[in-house]
Amino acid sequence: MSNFLWGAQGTEDLDRAILAFTAGEDVVLDRELFVYDLTATAAHVRGLSRIGILEEAESKRLCELLETLRQAFERGEFVLDEGFEDGHSAIEAFLTEHAGPLGERVHTGRSRNDQVAVAARLYMRDRLGAIARDCVAVARACLEQARRHEFAPMPGYTHLQRAVPSSVGLWMGGFAESFGEDVAFIAAVLELLDACPLGTAAGYGVNLPLDRDGVAAELDFARLQVNPLATQNARGKSELMALQAVYHPMQDLRRLAWDLSLYTTAEFAFVRLPARYTTGSSIMPNKSNPDVVELMRARVATVEGALHEIQSVLSLPSGYQRDLQLTKGPMIRGLQAAATSMAILPPLLDGLEFDTGRMRDAVSPDMFATDLALEIAASGVPFREAYRTVKEERASLADRDAVESLRQRTSPGAAGALRLDEIEARLDAVAAPFG
Ligand code: ARG
Repeated sequence: MSNFLWGAQGTEDLDRAILAFTAGEDVVLDRELFVYDLTATAAHVRGLSRIGILEEAESKRLCELLETLRQAFERGEFVLDEGFEDGHSAIEAFLTEHAGPLGERVHTGRSRNDQVAVAARLYMRDRLGAIARDCVAVARACLEQARRHEFAPMPGYTHLQRAVPSSVGLWMGGFAESFGEDVAFIAAVLELLDACPLGTAAGYGVNLPLDRDGVAAELDFARLQVNPLATQNARGKSELMALQAVYHPMQDLRRLAWDLSLYTTAEFAFVRLPARYTTGSSIMPNKSNPDVVELMRARVATVEGALHEIQSVLSLPSGYQRDLQLTKGPMIRGLQAAATSMAILPPLLDGLEFDTGRMRDAVSPDMFATDLALEIAASGVPFREAYRTVKEERASLADRDAVESLRQRTSPGAAGALRLDEIEARLDAVAAPFG
């Protein structure tokens, strides 16, 4: 018996090298999409029964078999491998094996083109939801550290040169705000992706009164992808949107990872990582290396590479082209890289130990120059004149007492400038859709 829906009579008909080239890698990737394909297939089957193409009992039987297949797949008893051209064919083959001609009716009114599009959308929706939840947890962990050390002074750097006094609250509160913004961005992309492709078939619709709205509602989509050709043209574009959604938190994560790898050096020694996030050296007994944050930082490359790969594939005319299959691998790889990196971050942040003494000592008196100039300017002197005065009389900054009194008056956060409550309120609002 052939497993190929389009009629090839067994693998002997097909050049094995060609088959490996067109489908070999893809069917393995379909393992990631398989349960989503099964869910969408069940919704399609119930839709067919609502328009009288399947009897109620036939629809029930097919849905039971789809559930059996899901369980067998999850237990590892059903293996999706090169014996099938893809996950879509595997579903029809299983149904046909167990229900004969009834199984062969499952593909009425659909194409693998809308089938793969819906499975990919359901997959992306799940992944993005999980990444958004982790992103909220990251933002909350940053906020927690900001609160714990709200007024702990540390240097604020520009150009990596000491600039002005800052605080742990300001540094960590900044990341809380950024990751909160990323959650809102993911939510916006999820809203764009919240439209159901099923029922558009190969890209030109079908001459059947499919219950598209009912199927979309059952799959929890807010609306339809209306135009069938636009639906196929959105393949790859949707995947790009999903990767762009996770790119922003990954970029923030890269910046945070950079800060941590810098601040954990012996030269800075502002921060210690929890021991379980460091590794030793095979040759240098003295080493404790921040491999985890380095690998987080490097995983941004996987997301960037995935974005570039899909952008390159999408140089296409209208409608389905097999090229689109090659958007699947980078989409899955990119989302997995983001998911694993974001998931590991909250407990790491929670376990950070700050050497607040070292941080305070790194705030040298000359870093109060700007505060001093502003204090003079506030008394009515033009700022440029105040600037020159301080620049010329920097010696006054060596006066420990004067600096100490300035520090008391202007320490970051002392005037409530950090507004951590405001950052938290905004975070609560953007986190709400993610439970
Ligand atoms: N593996 C294919 C993909 O990801 C499924 C759709 C196949 N459609 C086709 N007309 N050959 O694009």
